[in-house]
Amino acid sequence: MKALDGVRILDMTHVQSGPTCTQLLAWFGADVIKVERPGVGDATRGQLRDIPDADSLYFTMLNHNKRSITLNTKSEKGKEIFEGLLKACDVMVENFAPGALDRMGFSWERIQEINPRLIYASVKGFGPGPYEDCKVYENVAQCTGGSASTTGFLGGPPTVTGAQIGDSGTGLHLALGIVTALYHREKSGKGQRVLAAMQDGVLNLCRVKLRDQQRLEHGPLKEYSQFGQGIEFGEATPRAGNDSGGGQPGWIVKCKGWETDPDAYVYFITQAAVWGNICDLIGEPDWKEHPDYAKPEARLDKIPQIFDRIEEWTKTKNKFEVMEACNPLNIPCGPILSMKELAAEPSLRETGTIVEVDHPTRGKYLTVGNPIKLSDSPAEVVRSPLLGEHTDEILSEVLDMDNEDIAAAKADGAVGDEFASSKAAAE
Ligand code: COA
Repeated sequence: MKALDGVRILDMTHVQSGPTCTQLLAWFGADVIKVERPGVGDATRGQLRDIPDADSLYFTMLNHNKRSITLNTKSEKGKEIFEGLLKACDVMVENFAPGALDRMGFSWERIQEINPRLIYASVKGFGPGPYEDCKVYENVAQCTGGSASTTGFLGGPPTVTGAQIGDSGTGLHLALGIVTALYHREKSGKGQRVLAAMQDGVLNLCRVKLRDQQRLEHGPLKEYSQFGQGIEFGEATPRAGNDSGGGQPGWIVKCKGWETDPDAYVYFITQAAVWGNICDLIGEPDWKEHPDYAKPEARLDKIPQIFDRIEEWTKTKNKFEVMEACNPLNIPCGPILSMKELAAEPSLRETGTIVEVDHPTRGKYLTVGNPIKLSDSPAEVVRSPLLGEHTDEILSEVLDMDNEDIAAAKADGAVGDEFASSKAAAE
């Protein structure tokens, strides 16, 4: 039995933020019914395609362990079926543009009338306020949530990160909100509205930068390299390059081969507790006792210079040799791993963090499995559904519709027939 066995999710999500959330819930054992527009489906099925006519990796990697039904929730019959699904589910998740569900006729008030136990969970770009009606994608959230203004190098432009903190980050926040509301429903018997706004999610992940904003009022941020370089601080938290966000200075330094390998770098942290070990390792034993270097406070105005010296040493080793030399001395560091290296890393395959999946139209591909491991509820990654693959199954199993009802709904255009027709064509 899986942790969320018996929980049924009506998944109205598309693109990335919402699907990340429902994929997680599916991995924990929930029955996730993904509703897609007949003949069209989630737009990502066709975006960034690498294989003609096969669902894209964008779609397949975000929609594992789900069932797909195609339903036109704007037609009369489609709305009737949708109502039936709302009654049969515990949670409805959506990340449409603001107001889309209201325009379909399903406001929160109406949903509570249909099923008072239903948890109605949404991702939106912004919470209530001046921008609440705006459509939002990943990088808009990174820019409006404080990430872009604090990412990049001093003097350079604001920069977005490769980590999808706006989409996948908010999906994670929403999943926690849903599970919390489910727990609350055990006691209250009532569903509730759950909202995760992408701006809020990004800001939550950038809270140390809001910390620094307030510290700035009391003087310069001495752990920022900018301080050591004698560059004055402005009014807002600056971009800090590869500075560590914590109290232990860190930086990315070059390793052997950096001239030709763009990932021949290591993140090196000068943790105060192991300063002596660092001095010995890089060949500066005098720095252990020297008044300019011995204490963390004394080092603050020399951070860039210290990392230059560390880099002289790291450039003599490859990034894995640096890790091997530092680990026994308890010096925290991390090699910069490329996606190529991560994809090939055996330990990640063993733990199920990277999984190979087989798909009927695209063949084998790699995906990231569930990053959260439960000892009694291990996640097994099942390929994403084809468009409308489970339409008939869901209508009969969840809504008790017979073949005649299903045929009538298809004839009406309320539900799609794409899977049955593509199967028939293939046969
Ligand atoms: N049957 C009938 N109509 C359907 C449907 C279905 N099964 N599924 C979706 N639709 C309709 C919607 O009701 C909407 O119609 P409307 O505009 O008449 O109200 C329409 O399809 C398009 O939905 P929308 O959400 O506006 O898609 P979009 O492609 O224009 O915008 C986003 C995409 C991501 C910008 C937008 O959905 C959004 O801002 N979402 C919230 C924030 C978010 O999650 N962003 C991150 C995405 S990774």
